[in-house]
Amino acid sequence: MKAIQVHAFGGNDALVLDEVENPVAGEGEYVVRIRAAGVNPVDWKIVRGYLSKGFPHALPFVPGWDLAGEIVARGHGARRFAVGERVYAYLRRPSVEKGTYAEMQAVPEAYLARMPAKASFEEAASLPLVTLTSLQCLRAAGVKPGSRVLVLGASGGTGSAAVQLAKILGAEVEGVASAKNHAFVQGLGAAAVWDYAGATPEGIPGVGVGRFDVVYDCIGGDTLRAARTALREGGHAVSITTRTPPGWEDLGERFHYVFVEPHSAQLDEIARWYDEGRLTTHLDATFPLAQAAEAHALSEKGRTRGKIVLTMG
Ligand SMILES: NC(=O)c1ccc[n+]([C@@H]2O[C@H](COP(=O)([O-])OP(=O)(O)OC[C@H]3O[C@@H](n4cnc5c(N)ncnc54)[C@H](OP(=O)(O)O)[C@@H]3O)[C@@H](O)[C@H]2O)c1
Repeated sequence: MKAIQVHAFGGNDALVLDEVENPVAGEGEYVVRIRAAGVNPVDWKIVRGYLSKGFPHALPFVPGWDLAGEIVARGHGARRFAVGERVYAYLRRPSVEKGTYAEMQAVPEAYLARMPAKASFEEAASLPLVTLTSLQCLRAAGVKPGSRVLVLGASGGTGSAAVQLAKILGAEVEGVASAKNHAFVQGLGAAAVWDYAGATPEGIPGVGVGRFDVVYDCIGGDTLRAARTALREGGHAVSITTRTPPGWEDLGERFHYVFVEPHSAQLDEIARWYDEGRLTTHLDATFPLAQAAEAHALSEKGRTRGKIVLTMG
């Protein structure tokens, strides 16, 4: 089968299309024929070696953590899914080695769920990492019906998922995004969207002071610093970019840093919400597997609206 492999950390030319051995389903695993793979900023960070100290890895490795596809074989004890079923997964195994930029991969049952019936493979592959991230963050911050939530970076992959998921959890949601993305973020359900242009340590223009129970950060840096005044006293903040941002120290345990975990039961919830029409995805661009380098170059620009996906045909 074909797979993108990284033989040495480097730039986008480190992504090489190779012919590799077909995977075999081990105990409790399935072989999935991958039809589409989501692209996330973490993928190019891994290829460039930025996270090599944080994640065990084995060179050459196949990058990619998101997939949608069909079951083609079942290993011993793997019985939840039948051959031919359409599944999706956030396939972050303990070691960066056998990822989703491949025509097939072996996947443990605990990572898999039936993909939304109403989603295409491309749409389903765009969902796992960003929806699990945002669901786990919103729950860590205690979002509940009536919570007022501010999402920083509301037009990106995680932020666009967060706006919708916070609504599903019953919250009132506002977003921070550049002017060109305001209509997009409002279309996802945000009651108001604020431009990060002009943000200062005193605040983000228009956002106001102490209005939010939860600030969810998908951006970090100056935007996170500027959002400090938006949180009400006693509120919670949650970040996926920064463990200990300056200016937020006084929150103590009310500041949460989350690194997304695989979670098949949460993927079941996400599929249900998708099929109920309460959650959608926006595909900014799709590329064939052989053009993974172009997909990473686009993601690295940091301007993605929604998601980028690789397709295997
Ligand atoms: N800890 C975890 O588990 C975890 C999980 C997922 C992602 N992450 C990290 O979280 C970050 C976001 O991931 P992502 O997938 O959402 O990225 P993404 O889709 O690439 O985000 C791009 C979006 O960010 C917007 N943006 C850029 N600068 C902004 C600013 N200053 N304020 C508000 N919006 C801004 C861009 O809009 P404009 O074009 O309008 O600027 C664009 O729509 C990445 O660093 C990623 O590695 C961490």
